[in-house]
Amino acid sequence: MKPTILYGISIVGFSMLMGCGDANTHNDMDKKKITDPHSYANPSDAVITHLDLDLHVNFDKKKLSGTATYTLQRTPEAKEVVLDTRDLSISKVTLDADTAGAAFATGVPDAVLGTALIIKIKPETKTVTVHYETSPDAAALQWLQPSQTAGGKFPFLFTQSQAILCRTWIPVQDSPGIRFTYTAKVTVPAGYMAVMSAENPTQRSVDGVYAFSQKRAVPAYLMALAVGDFDYHKYDERTGVYAEPATMPAAAYEFDETRKMLDAAEALYGPYEWGRYDLLVLPPSFPFGGMENPCVTFATPSVIAGDKSLNSLVAHELAHSWSGNLVTNRTWNDFWLNEGFTVYFERRIMESIYGKEYADMLAVLGYGDLKNTLADMESEGHQEDTKLKLKLDGRDPDEGMSDIAYEKGYLLLRNLEGQAGREAFDQFLKAWFKDFAFKGADTEEFLDYLEKNLIQKSNGKITLDVKKWVYEPGLPDGFTEPTSARLQKMKAMADAFVASGAEAVSLDSLSSHEIQFFLRSLPDNLTAAQMVQLDRKCHFTDRKNSEEAFLWLRLSVINNYADAYPALDSFLVHVGRRKFVAPLYEAMVKNPATIELANQIYAKARPGYHSVTYNTVDEILGKKPEQ
Ligand code: BES
Ligand code: ZN
Repeated sequence: MKPTILYGISIVGFSMLMGCGDANTHNDMDKKKITDPHSYANPSDAVITHLDLDLHVNFDKKKLSGTATYTLQRTPEAKEVVLDTRDLSISKVTLDADTAGAAFATGVPDAVLGTALIIKIKPETKTVTVHYETSPDAAALQWLQPSQTAGGKFPFLFTQSQAILCRTWIPVQDSPGIRFTYTAKVTVPAGYMAVMSAENPTQRSVDGVYAFSQKRAVPAYLMALAVGDFDYHKYDERTGVYAEPATMPAAAYEFDETRKMLDAAEALYGPYEWGRYDLLVLPPSFPFGGMENPCVTFATPSVIAGDKSLNSLVAHELAHSWSGNLVTNRTWNDFWLNEGFTVYFERRIMESIYGKEYADMLAVLGYGDLKNTLADMESEGHQEDTKLKLKLDGRDPDEGMSDIAYEKGYLLLRNLEGQAGREAFDQFLKAWFKDFAFKGADTEEFLDYLEKNLIQKSNGKITLDVKKWVYEPGLPDGFTEPTSARLQKMKAMADAFVASGAEAVSLDSLSSHEIQFFLRSLPDNLTAAQMVQLDRKCHFTDRKNSEEAFLWLRLSVINNYADAYPALDSFLVHVGRRKFVAPLYEAMVKNPATIELANQIYAKARPGYHSVTYNTVDEILGKKPEQ
């Protein structure tokens, strides 16, 4: 059948189901502006405002199945509502209370965007229900074997919806500019715990049936579900942590400053709007450090260092409760509005709890990441992606998820603060979060707001060329770099090691950030003898702090220190966090001596990785994407 075009989507099999040729209508609609390049949805005709989900979780079949019922806000003329789907099998669609199947059609699948689900609606239609099930390979879902969990006895399921993976487990208008409230009934095997990005239980249900409710409107990328053998530890009325029983003591200790962080965040930028703030510690294959799912941040166990040294991750995900979850990037081209603001807010939280010296170390480490990323992107010809405002149209939004949004965004805000003065800047940011609460914002709206509410009121103090920061590649001249005297000493220590050997090195009473900076300051051409010396003195190969282990293992690959390869192997088989995993494989393929090692390790490790991670590593190792 010849595809027709609707909203720029090629449709097959539509008129057959519809029983009427709507070609003219389609053409009219074609002219309407599609504002989010990563969604097929037609929100100006029919937009979802509420979702009622009813799902069964089947670990044996690795499937979710059930129904999604949407309340619509629509124009009287609207003839269709369009949802995003990917790898879902849709068995039936119904309208309002009518149980008879309604007409629907699906578009031609796109590898990144998935498939449009076009549902014919009547003038009186208020709700649509989609009956569906997920595929065992749904990209958002990771179904873990018991052996991949800390307890080792029960399987585990978690979702990762950002950026556009929600559509692989829920048919939805998967655009960050579209928000809806939701309820969910989720049935899991009896005895298992379940949480969602919503009001959550603190006790396991006896029959495995859970009822969730999220009363604040959220975009689809913040839909989340986790099911497994985990418990709740309460810190206070608002904060707590979910973790597997085996992980709980360490998790409860590591994150017990969450309360303080929440208080500090509210003191900075206004009330926390989401009820409780909890954390869920996932098994180590979780592909990210953290994910700011409303009410319950999902976190990697690799930040449990034993000494709280990596807990800025909590400040980061908590900060998203304002920058991201409250004020949301309208499309993924505006991703820096989520992440740059969040890094700025994160470091302000850290500063207010641990002091300026501590926050400056984080800023300098981040600045180092930024400079490396800029150099890499430039040498690979990706300058366009070093602009804050991205052009991800026609691409996987994952490609825009680099340090640019985080650290260039941060640097701009930090410099704006520097020029405006902290008091004025804080007032401005607080008002931004208030004025745009529960709304989407794009870069242009921010620039306009900035101009009116900060720049014009600053009496010429703000001289930064903000447009240049946003629309041009690289870093414009004339900004202040972050500095840290404590980290400068680490650079000096690394230089001294190269000049005179391991006697120059002492890590006693240094913080993890200083150790990380020391490792980053070592050159890429150390001899085997130097690596041995360092390892004898500092026991880097045995380090349990994941950031330090990662830096050391990478250095080991670059400098051919084979004694560390067993540790590298076990790190990569155990940990699926992409930020660590991808650069380690990258280093291995760059060094001819470790290409084979990379393939050997990957053959063992890949089955344990989440799709987000294995898709990236497949590319690094030149593996064909799965059909
Ligand atoms: N929202 C992000 C994670 C994300 C970004 C998932 C883009 C999918 C697409 C989260 O808030 C984040 O930034 N996590 C960081 C940790 C942080 C401390 C910088 C991470 O996972 O490394
Ligand atoms: Zn973030």
